[in-house]
Amino acid sequence: MSDSRIRIRALAHGGDGVGNLVEGEGPTWFVPGALPDEVVDAQEVRAAKRFVHGRLVEIVERSPHRVEPPCPYAATCGGCQWQHVDPLKQPEFKARIVADQLRSVSTGVRVGFAGPAEGYRRRARVHYRRSESGFSLGFHAERSREVVDVSRCLVLDPALDVAVQRLRTVAGLLPSSGEILGLSDGKQAILGLPKVKPEPEILEALRAVLDDTLVGIEVRGGRQQGHVGKRVLDVDGTALWPAVRLGSFSFGQANAAGNKSLVDHVVKQADAGGLKILELYAGSGNFTRALARTAQRVWASDTDHDAIRKLQGLAKSHELPINAKRQSATNLLPKLAESKSTYDVIVLDPPRTGLGKEGMAAACRVATQRIIYVSCDPATLARDLAVATSRGFDVVDLTVFDLMPMTSHVEVVATLRARSAE
Ligand SMILES: C[S@@+](CC[C@H](N)C(=O)[O-])C[C@H]1O[C@@H](n2cnc3c(N)ncnc32)[C@H](O)[C@@H]1O
Repeated sequence: MSDSRIRIRALAHGGDGVGNLVEGEGPTWFVPGALPDEVVDAQEVRAAKRFVHGRLVEIVERSPHRVEPPCPYAATCGGCQWQHVDPLKQPEFKARIVADQLRSVSTGVRVGFAGPAEGYRRRARVHYRRSESGFSLGFHAERSREVVDVSRCLVLDPALDVAVQRLRTVAGLLPSSGEILGLSDGKQAILGLPKVKPEPEILEALRAVLDDTLVGIEVRGGRQQGHVGKRVLDVDGTALWPAVRLGSFSFGQANAAGNKSLVDHVVKQADAGGLKILELYAGSGNFTRALARTAQRVWASDTDHDAIRKLQGLAKSHELPINAKRQSATNLLPKLAESKSTYDVIVLDPPRTGLGKEGMAAACRVATQRIIYVSCDPATLARDLAVATSRGFDVVDLTVFDLMPMTSHVEVVATLRARSAE
């Protein structure tokens, strides 16, 4: 099949270049690796009625923002999609992606955080596979389940990178394939091994790999759990609010400096002083501990049992006005709306799937002043904001946080204000 010449005009959610044929009419093309204002030759990989997904064959006109990837694995590893993009330009590209997704919202998109593009990632899910050709440890190749063997990862926090590599010495005892969950506090790291039973032989071997950097490993297989060394690390404490306690299996934001900036922003937008706050998808209390400093009370919930237990412990030990309960947001919100319960502010931080139309409609009945929506997926955020703007809320602030440089992942916080509160 012959190549098509495409002029790239934007970046799509997910990071692919989006464009059209340089000459003539035709469908919209999505080309991974292509940048805005480039002209590229691309080959069709698959096509639908209005879209073609292509493979970049040659760059005909090059973007000034294209750089030589600093990572030697960039051509094969799927962990980072944007090693070829100037790190200084990445936050602006992410803001543009968000603005495109949220076209219907007439609020400008600001960049709230941009930080170093290397050594920042303190939370990661790494894969391993043992085969006849040896043991591979790293991220999956792009759009594949193949594990690309990496002996050093430039974006990982150095302590986490060292800790992950130490597991090579026990490769023979691990299942033929699996995942390693890692968390670092900048100096020390802990790891989690799902689908590994805590057999005495395994625990003994894992204990032997612990050192000053890799300070703990937890294994979970079926209903059995075991660990050697530390199970948790206390991270992100500041002079104003306490640290959160995270395990290797817990959700945690990947970028410590970026998370500080994100929490500061959420606290500012929530303006929680003396107010009743409902926090959904609270995890182990990343935002809760900061909101609770000034709020009348924070009612926080999450479906993760372990996270809620940690949050309850944090509230108790620091005597914070927090009620933490294990509960699904999508079950809770319609019930609150039906019983006409209200809160001054709702803060929510759902997974990629977002809150959903029904949940958002209910949230608009429950929040009387503001909704602070933290999202890692601008497409589901756009869907949910459309519901809110048709139900009495205005989007008054959109701020992008580049928590994952070198990847196309984007975190965005939308602040919604009730028209009735103006
Ligand atoms: C993106 S994380 C945010 C956690 C926390 N806000 C933080 O910053 O660390 C999403 C959280 O949603 C929780 N979760 C997933 N589905 C849920 C649901 N239906 N209802 C409530 N929580 C849910 C997960 O357990 C996870 O803690």
